[in-house]
Amino acid sequence: MRIEIENQPYASIQADALVTYVFDKEDKLDGVLSEMDRGMDGHLAALAGSGELTGKALELVLVHFPQGFAAKRLLLVGAGKPGKFNASDLRKIAGAALRYLKTRGVKTVAFLAREGERGPAEAQAVVEGLIFADFESDTYRTEKKSNREIQSVALAGFDGGPGSILAGAVERAQIIAESQNFARELINEPSNRLTPRMLAARADAMAKEVGLSCEILDEKKISELKMGALLGVAQGSVEPPRVIVLRYTPSTHRAEAPVLGLVGKAVTFDTGGISIKPANNMEKMKYDMGGGATMLGVMRALAFLKPSVPIIAVIPATENMPGARAQKPGDVQVAMSGKTIEVINTDAEGRLILADGIFYARKLGCTHLIDAATLTGAIEVALANVNVGAFGTPREFLDNFLESAKAVGEKMWPMPIDDEYEEMIKSNIADIRNTGSGKGGGAITAAWFLKEFAEDTPWIHLDIASTCWVDEGRPWLAKGPTGVAIRSIIDFAMKM
Ligand code: BES
Ligand code: ZN
Ligand code: ZN
Repeated sequence: MRIEIENQPYASIQADALVTYVFDKEDKLDGVLSEMDRGMDGHLAALAGSGELTGKALELVLVHFPQGFAAKRLLLVGAGKPGKFNASDLRKIAGAALRYLKTRGVKTVAFLAREGERGPAEAQAVVEGLIFADFESDTYRTEKKSNREIQSVALAGFDGGPGSILAGAVERAQIIAESQNFARELINEPSNRLTPRMLAARADAMAKEVGLSCEILDEKKISELKMGALLGVAQGSVEPPRVIVLRYTPSTHRAEAPVLGLVGKAVTFDTGGISIKPANNMEKMKYDMGGGATMLGVMRALAFLKPSVPIIAVIPATENMPGARAQKPGDVQVAMSGKTIEVINTDAEGRLILADGIFYARKLGCTHLIDAATLTGAIEVALANVNVGAFGTPREFLDNFLESAKAVGEKMWPMPIDDEYEEMIKSNIADIRNTGSGKGGGAITAAWFLKEFAEDTPWIHLDIASTCWVDEGRPWLAKGPTGVAIRSIIDFAMKM
């Protein structure tokens, strides 16, 4: 999909469809809409009068052969109440428009920004929304719906000062949204086509393409490093584990600059192990590598965006299988840090592999940590599929991160991590156990388990178990992998 910047008035813009948006307010047809309405002999006013055009959020009204337009169609997208309208709404509006027009044989689109905020940040949101919405889960369809491709989108009505500022915003949006889609493609892969070794190969290929350094630790190296918690999970599978280490180093940086560590859970399939999961929905556990894919998407974007601090991604990758050699409930594993872990439930494997991932990231010199993981079913109980559960210490570090999430339109909610929860992961025979007390707070005790390995390093944990994948599409989002958290982490890294 080509993105162009257009400077013509609406009437002369050539396109299969021209898209703009309408607010839900008394005077719907102000500004450019009233101009359009005059050219259309009051046709828009009539639509508004009949109740067909209300401006309700994401309402879609398509007008064919609009009078006074060079474009063949006019698509009006509802923008909701003007009071709380922001760039995040524009992202969704652009996405919803693209997904609607795609199914109608439209090839060329123009997106017209209205009065109000329409600078580079808004242009960036629109382009992100377009590319993100264009994602299809069709890797394994033999008949692709290629007749549904939008070839170009022209951005009109944006003011970015000198043209290059707007062009820069468009380029940033392309990098970010394409990196999100890169991660979504990985998350979609079934486990027979994305084993830990194959994930490592994909990461390595991506790193070469964008100029990151990539080191893959194999099972031998993992044993030498004594990553006992990761090995405990991996021992049930014939597929060997891998640890993927990607590095971004800025061309110059202060000696005392922080080093950001990004740790992602990559269980390429989670059967539960000996504590096996029920068959119903088990196929979805191919997306249990979503946290790892998130960090790969972030690193891909950062390779282009070039933050000013060094970034190291550490992605432990394994299957969680039952098998003759699988770890068993009650087993004790020694993590790389030396802490001993009683494995009460082999299905709580994510925290085990992250324990070694987090500790290793600190060993490599990371001064600040973010982890992302499809960690617990309990986070769905707490927050449904609306918010990512965000944990972290110190609180100020988490609050800064939540500012980034808000700025890029990703919903995240701060979760508590009081000391009382730490009691719940004490073991009778080892230092800690890998499940809570069974009396609730499952997402929090899981976070506390990770904190045992992050210790005093400023750390953020994102439980994306309920938000990494959606079973039902939304107007701006295909069903399947969402790529959530990638934009927030990128934004945060760029501000460090
Ligand atoms: N991968 C799952 C968590 C999950 C559940 C992700 C649903 C996506 C959707 C994780 O490894 C797991 O099984 N967690 C257990 C932990 C429990 C045994 C303490 C859970 O949440 O049930
Ligand atoms: Zn599990
Ligand atoms: Zn899991």
